[in-house]
Amino acid sequence: MNYQFGLIGYPIKHSLSPWIHGEFLQRTNLKGSYEVIEINPNDSFAEKMETLKTSDLNGFNITVPYKEKIIPYLDEINEQAEKIGAVNTVLCKNGKWIGYNTDGIGYVRSLENKFPQLKEDRSKRVLLLGAGGAAKGIFHALIHSGYNQITIANRSLDKAEKLTAGNKNSEVLTLEEAEEKVSQYDLIIQTSSVGMKPNQEQSIIFMSTLKENAIVSDIVYQPLMTQILKQANKLGAHIHFGHTMLLYQAQYAFEIWTNNRPSMDGLDKELQNILEG
Ligand code: ATR
Repeated sequence: MNYQFGLIGYPIKHSLSPWIHGEFLQRTNLKGSYEVIEINPNDSFAEKMETLKTSDLNGFNITVPYKEKIIPYLDEINEQAEKIGAVNTVLCKNGKWIGYNTDGIGYVRSLENKFPQLKEDRSKRVLLLGAGGAAKGIFHALIHSGYNQITIANRSLDKAEKLTAGNKNSEVLTLEEAEEKVSQYDLIIQTSSVGMKPNQEQSIIFMSTLKENAIVSDIVYQPLMTQILKQANKLGAHIHFGHTMLLYQAQYAFEIWTNNRPSMDGLDKELQNILEG
């Protein structure tokens, strides 16, 4: 078997996914390739999909801005992806396209791999900062994994309310309220793009207190040490870097395509080195 994988999105010329999946192929001793298929938003997406349907791809990833646009072209969609309303992984099997979303589950895997103690007590109080697409994936994956006390703080309250609708254990806060109550949470997850280069001085909230042993996580990985992680570090909290989500969402996608779970030994450091140049 010679696997053929790909990535669609725009712009994706600098994507790290080919490197990550190349590592996975080597680590599992499988033969294959991973191709970047950039689709310009000015081109016809429907035509590109028609061409892709006739290709020999075994699976592909989807990134911005096509994670929702791909859905009408699928033959099946997995329950989690349907809930999230976005697909980042397609399995091409027996002529059918099956859609998955590995972002949220990948994030939870990355977190619990670094902090295995979380698996023993998922009743920890979680504060999710932001309510965009990334927050949606992470929120559903946390619920799916058994976390049951999740508060969402967002600049626009209506978006946070929409996200938690139907979940009676979830609470919604303004960012100002979150700033005041931050010491009540065991796990704080920053899911917005605030703090990403070139705005690395920005922070979605400023923290002056934290619970002892709190874990603070940021999905932004450019830079790795974001403003919010710097604050957490100063206050003595445990910190979790965003690039590991990238690795674990890819690991889960690779498993969907090949039924093989690649080893992650040392990859975290290698990717860190690449990102830090
Ligand atoms: P996505 O998660 O879909 O990729 P994003 O633009 O990275 O999208 O992040 C969207 C989230 O970041 C939203 O929660 C957004 O808040 P609103 O819902 O109020 O728009 C939040 N966000 C983006 N810029 C922000 C800022 N300057 N201050 C506070 N929150 C911000």
